[in-house]
Amino acid sequence: MNLNIKVPFSPEQASTIATSVDALYFFLICLTVFFTLLISFLVIFFSIKYRRTASNQTGVPIHGNLLLEIIWSGIPLAIVMFIFVWGARIYYISSTPPANAEEIFVVGKQWMWKIQHPEGHREINTLHVPVNKPIRLTMTSEDIIHSFFIPAFRVKMDVVPGRYTTAWFEATKTGTYHLFCAEYCGTKHSEMIGKVIVMQEEEYAAWLENNSGTDTGKSTGGGSSEPMHVAGAKVFKANRCNTCHQEESQGLGPSLHGLYGSTVEFTDGKTAEADDVYIRESIIKPNAKTKAGYSPMMPTYQGQLSEEQIFQIIAYIKSLEAKEEEKTDVTPLEVTTTIE
Ligand code: CUA
Repeated sequence: MNLNIKVPFSPEQASTIATSVDALYFFLICLTVFFTLLISFLVIFFSIKYRRTASNQTGVPIHGNLLLEIIWSGIPLAIVMFIFVWGARIYYISSTPPANAEEIFVVGKQWMWKIQHPEGHREINTLHVPVNKPIRLTMTSEDIIHSFFIPAFRVKMDVVPGRYTTAWFEATKTGTYHLFCAEYCGTKHSEMIGKVIVMQEEEYAAWLENNSGTDTGKSTGGGSSEPMHVAGAKVFKANRCNTCHQEESQGLGPSLHGLYGSTVEFTDGKTAEADDVYIRESIIKPNAKTKAGYSPMMPTYQGQLSEEQIFQIIAYIKSLEAKEEEKTDVTPLEVTTTIE
């Protein structure tokens, strides 16, 4: 099916999902126009055809018509189910970032977008991305609800305080595109805008290399361009997290090596995957879930860490590989099996 339908009045199509979103939208418009015209025509046609021709004329009483009722229920049902399946397919694609997507972190606040790249680049109201590469955005807000909206990519996602939301896109064309806040967020909501700059891969790599890039220079709060996990390690130390979370499991808290992406078991027997959401909760509400074998004694760091610092700590934890001790366990086992 060729989905390359050009819809007038719509923004440029610059992401992999744009054509399919527009195709559905175009279909909905056509469907609406068709039924508007059909119903308007029938209203006029019937009012002429069945008009009263004599002053004492009365209508024939109607006692129901099963066939007619099946038709006028069945056809709309088929149409809306068709729209549902089509829409759900697009929704599923647009809400499932590919596994190989590059991650970029976004923090919204009144009234700006603060962006961090894992490599360390920080930008405000500007987002540099490579073309033809899936990009996953992990987003949160420092104050109230905002909405991250790139019309040319057909990407729009609420950015909510106290919660991580994700969106993803793959740009298909280089160029500069608008970035909006699409949720009213106060006096300067309309100024909470920016641009997305899509670059060729080599160009983007060069931009990442160039630590003194003009956009990073504008960053507030340090503006350091060290990789996020390095910045995270510093935040981790500065807040003395390492007193309890030591490299081996001898600390008061569990070791964080190999934690990211693993399944954690809690004291109540439940389990969860150690993802960004879990790690953020463990920092803000440490005792919401307690790892099996430990006691709930960690203090909350709510209000002590900025959302950007929490993103950095997550990047740091993500960078901690599983310790050697687990790997060396294999050798004695192998020895015993050969003895047997
Ligand atoms: Cu932020 Cu509107």
